[in-house]
Amino acid sequence: MRWDVKDITCIDDLRRLARRRVPRAFFDYAEAGSYSQETLRANRSDLEHIKLRQRVLIDVSSLDTATHIAGGDVSLPLALGPVAMTGLQWGNGEILACRAAQAAGIPFTMSTLSICSIEDVAAAVDKPFWFQLYVMKDRGFVRSLIERAAAAKCSALVLTVDLQVLGQRHVDIKNGLSVPPSLKMNNLINMATKPGWVLSVLSGKRWTFGNLDGHVKDMPDVKSLAQWVGSQFDQTLSWKDVEWIRTLWPGTLIIKGILDVEDARAAARTGATALVVSNHGGRQLDGAASSISMLPKIADAVGSEIEVLFDGGIRSGQDILRALALGAKACLIGRAYIFGLGAGGEAGVSKAIEIIRKELEVSMALTGVKRIAEVDHRVLV
Ligand SMILES: Cc1cc2nc3c(=O)[nH]c(=O)nc-3n(C[C@H](O)[C@H](O)[C@H](O)COP(=O)(O)O)c2cc1C
Repeated sequence: MRWDVKDITCIDDLRRLARRRVPRAFFDYAEAGSYSQETLRANRSDLEHIKLRQRVLIDVSSLDTATHIAGGDVSLPLALGPVAMTGLQWGNGEILACRAAQAAGIPFTMSTLSICSIEDVAAAVDKPFWFQLYVMKDRGFVRSLIERAAAAKCSALVLTVDLQVLGQRHVDIKNGLSVPPSLKMNNLINMATKPGWVLSVLSGKRWTFGNLDGHVKDMPDVKSLAQWVGSQFDQTLSWKDVEWIRTLWPGTLIIKGILDVEDARAAARTGATALVVSNHGGRQLDGAASSISMLPKIADAVGSEIEVLFDGGIRSGQDILRALALGAKACLIGRAYIFGLGAGGEAGVSKAIEIIRKELEVSMALTGVKRIAEVDHRVLV
């Protein structure tokens, strides 16, 4: 299939195209969940089981998808979530995705484990973006990352709390995308069959973790940097560390990776602006509940104290409507835009956002709601 915008009608088309254009090791990395992928599948299947309520003869001629997320105006209840190594799905991927998000009027979240650095992205775009933080053992490095995010005028800090240990993705080990990386010969041959990707990555600013490169002492190459990252996830992380981060970052704080009511209450007590109900896209605790099944309980418990955002399995505007109906203020997407990026760079990410926007508009119209604020459980059967 050639890249022809006219033929792309849904996120799954972008996924198919990305599968052809991105080397297998990186496509698999994006698509996979941990272990048996039960939670990955549950994220999708539980969303699909939620039925929307068709309504008729309601004037929906003036429909508006605009809303606010974490204090900012957005054109859609949607943000691009943090995705590690976006710049290996397509060269300069973080910059391209950020530009597409900003052109569409929604936030982009840069992962700690990005290929482009905070400064690279800040220099290439003209509006603030969100920065996602992994708290590593080296607290001096964490402090410097927060300072760099502040210097780059990032408008929110997204603190990810569900990765004290790493869930295993079988496919990454089989592809040699492990710590340290050791890509197998067949993966290297497979890369050579993706000339568009090779060109894009070769012309990209960097090929390693941009936020770490040159900032971590005595790390001469990608291998040692990857090893350093692997050794840095901190099993001692606790709510005390969140208090410490609060002192370093007085601005908008979003706590990402909450799947339990008790944890949601603790997150609300921190004074954070928002939390994200998330199981890391089914990449951490396999066997955990789907993200959407936990959303209503969490929204009921803390929705009046803290903004409740949602991610996990969103592939369409219909999915966003389902999540809003169950109490989310807005949704984040991971794979849906990463597939767009692999399919067509910046234009592919824009396409992903536009597909979701149109689907949301049509679904609002057919459920008889005109404003995001009107969406509640009444749009569900
Ligand atoms: C390839 C990939 C890398 C990810 N890297 C990060 C990361 O660096 N930090 C983070 O907080 N979440 C990360 N996530 C989780 C996403 O932010 C998000 O929670 C998840 O993708 C949502 O599920 P979805 O892909 O079904 O939309 C990653 C997800 C994927 C698919």
